[in-house]
Amino acid sequence: MSLDIHNAAPCDGRKPVILVVDDDSNNLAVLRDCLTDFNYTVLMAEDGESTVSRADYARPDLIMLDIMMPGVDGYETCRRLKRQESTRDIPVIFMSALAETGHKVHGLEAGAVDYVTKPFQQEELLARVGVHLSIRDLNRRLKEANELLEARVEARTRDLAIANRVLEDEIAERQAAQEQLQEQAVILEEKFEELQLAQVALSTSEQKFRAIFDQTFQLIGLTTPEGLMLEANQTALAFCGASESEILNKPLWESPWWAHSGEQCERVRKAVQQAAAGEFVRFEATHQTPDGTTHYIDFSLKPVMDSAGKVVLLIPEGRDITSFKKLEEQLRQSQKMEAIGTLAGGVAHDFNNILTVIMGLGSILQIKLKDSATLRQYADDILVAADKAAMLTHSLLAFSRKQIMQSRPEKINAIVLTIDKLLRRVIGEDIELHCSLAPEELMIMADGSQIEQVLMNLTVNARDAMLRGGIISISTERLELTEGLLDTSLKPGSYARITVADTGCGMNTTTRERIFEPFFTTKEVGKGTGLGLSIVYGIIKQHGGEISVYSEVGKGTCFKIYLPLIEASETGRASYPVPQVAGGKETILLAEDNDGVRGFMVQALEDYGYRVIAAPDGEEALRKYRANNDRIQLLLLDVVMPKMNGQEVYDAIVQEGKRIPVLFSSGYTADIIEQKGIVGEVGFLAKPVTVQMLLTKVREVLDQR
Ligand SMILES: Nc1ncnc2c1ncn2[C@@H]1O[C@H](COP(=O)(O)OP(=O)(O)OP(=O)(O)O)[C@@H](O)[C@H]1O
Ligand SMILES: [Mg+2]
Repeated sequence: MSLDIHNAAPCDGRKPVILVVDDDSNNLAVLRDCLTDFNYTVLMAEDGESTVSRADYARPDLIMLDIMMPGVDGYETCRRLKRQESTRDIPVIFMSALAETGHKVHGLEAGAVDYVTKPFQQEELLARVGVHLSIRDLNRRLKEANELLEARVEARTRDLAIANRVLEDEIAERQAAQEQLQEQAVILEEKFEELQLAQVALSTSEQKFRAIFDQTFQLIGLTTPEGLMLEANQTALAFCGASESEILNKPLWESPWWAHSGEQCERVRKAVQQAAAGEFVRFEATHQTPDGTTHYIDFSLKPVMDSAGKVVLLIPEGRDITSFKKLEEQLRQSQKMEAIGTLAGGVAHDFNNILTVIMGLGSILQIKLKDSATLRQYADDILVAADKAAMLTHSLLAFSRKQIMQSRPEKINAIVLTIDKLLRRVIGEDIELHCSLAPEELMIMADGSQIEQVLMNLTVNARDAMLRGGIISISTERLELTEGLLDTSLKPGSYARITVADTGCGMNTTTRERIFEPFFTTKEVGKGTGLGLSIVYGIIKQHGGEISVYSEVGKGTCFKIYLPLIEASETGRASYPVPQVAGGKETILLAEDNDGVRGFMVQALEDYGYRVIAAPDGEEALRKYRANNDRIQLLLLDVVMPKMNGQEVYDAIVQEGKRIPVLFSSGYTADIIEQKGIVGEVGFLAKPVTVQMLLTKVREVLDQR
């Protein structure tokens, strides 16, 4: 921008106003004229005081200030102008005749913008005035621009502050929201964890219930009220060997558990109807395995109802009670046998006493009548008949396990070999006998002769079951039972098993259930007594063993005998001395409550040279002993007597300080003999007795003294 000094630059479109201050009116006039000519509006003042007020009032665009003035000088006036807000920005140009630099500096320090020296060079003055007005104009515009800018900045700052606040609010809101979100997230996480734990617990419990459901020995399922299978546990599936897909969504009554019997399917179908009507149904069902074995099932069907009492599910449940049934049957059987045994044993005992009298007196008759052939024959016949009767009672006692058992260690193979020849003779030619013996020795505690009798009875039965010939197999083996054997009451342990099998006619179930009963026979009258197996049963039981039978009609029969093994020790079978009948002269105290038996014994003993002091009961016997104790050399005491039994009499005598040989006699039970604590083989006489038996035993005991 170039400066036109001849024309005043308009300020805001108007003529610039210049306040000229000089105490010299001439100077004022000159300046006024000059400036007016150049298009300035000129105001004038002649002293410092009026200048300050005038400037405040008129607000000139420039002040031309004389320095040297009376009163307030130019410097002071300038300072006052600069102090006053309204006039501070008005540029001041000093005018002075003082041309030294010191004055100029002083003037500039007081706030002036320029300095012109008098007398003026018009051109210079106008130029300086023009410049400073321009500067002032520019300054003003700058200021305005600045103010505008500031205002804008302020406005913008305000806007920004507002925006900022809004933003801050928003941020705060967001932060709050975020915090809330975080809190929610934490809660959510906790909830999630809880849920996970609950899920784990649920799945554990589900697993547990699954395990119980599947692994329980009960057969369990679930059906709709219409009987459609929804679930079946593993036990139930395994029981009938079916897979889930074969069963699920099919009617319960059509499932393989009942497939063998249409009647049973129908029963289950009816049970479903009953249960669907809210009834609890329970009955005993059967199931047949593919190999034909029948299982008994305790079956029940239970309705499950909702809160309104409507049946929503059915629970079929089953329990295999086959082994219970077998045990029950076994128990029933053994109770029956026990009852029959007691009866048979009782009868046999009474018979023994009677037979002792018959046989004893019969044998005395036999001796006394040896000179008359006819009478002697009668006596012989009595004895033969009595012998048969004695065998019968003997069998009954064997069955009721009440016969005297001479137990000793026996080797089973040896027993089989001993009797083998005899068996072959018994069975005849069209039957083969196969023996297969265990490689090792099987030692048992047994009465060998009784085991022989068992084998004999079983073989004879087998022979009778094979009228057209066949094979009988006898085998022995060792058996280790780690757990009890089904069908028997055997405890775990080592056993010898003797098997006697035949290929004969076999038996039906009805027969098989009764074969061990005494006098049960299917043979013709006169052919069988029905005592053979009863004896076998009694003997085996008395030996602590078990016997079981398997039989099929038309195919054959197999008896299995289990006897407890003992540790093998080299004990051969004892040989018995052949009894020699001999009498003696000793005095014997005989206590026997049965008059007939006592009479026979007194007779027999006295016949053979003995002296006998007899008593009908224990107390009498003790009294008589005390009266004759120096003479008595043998006590012959019946075990079971009224008042005082044989053992008590003996104990009393021993307590009195005398040891004297004793021979106990009894027709009673082996159990009772054992209960009385009577042991030893020599001192026991089993009734019924013949004269020979009596004399042999008496001599044996006396000779052992
Ligand atoms: N091996 C077998 N095969 C088929 N049936 C048998 C066999 N053993 C026994 N029985 C049946 O058991 C029944 C009873 O047998 P048990 O030996 O007790 O008496 P028994 O043989 O009839 O007469 P006893 O033995 O007194 O001569 C027999 O009548 C027979 O019906
Ligand atoms: Mg028989």
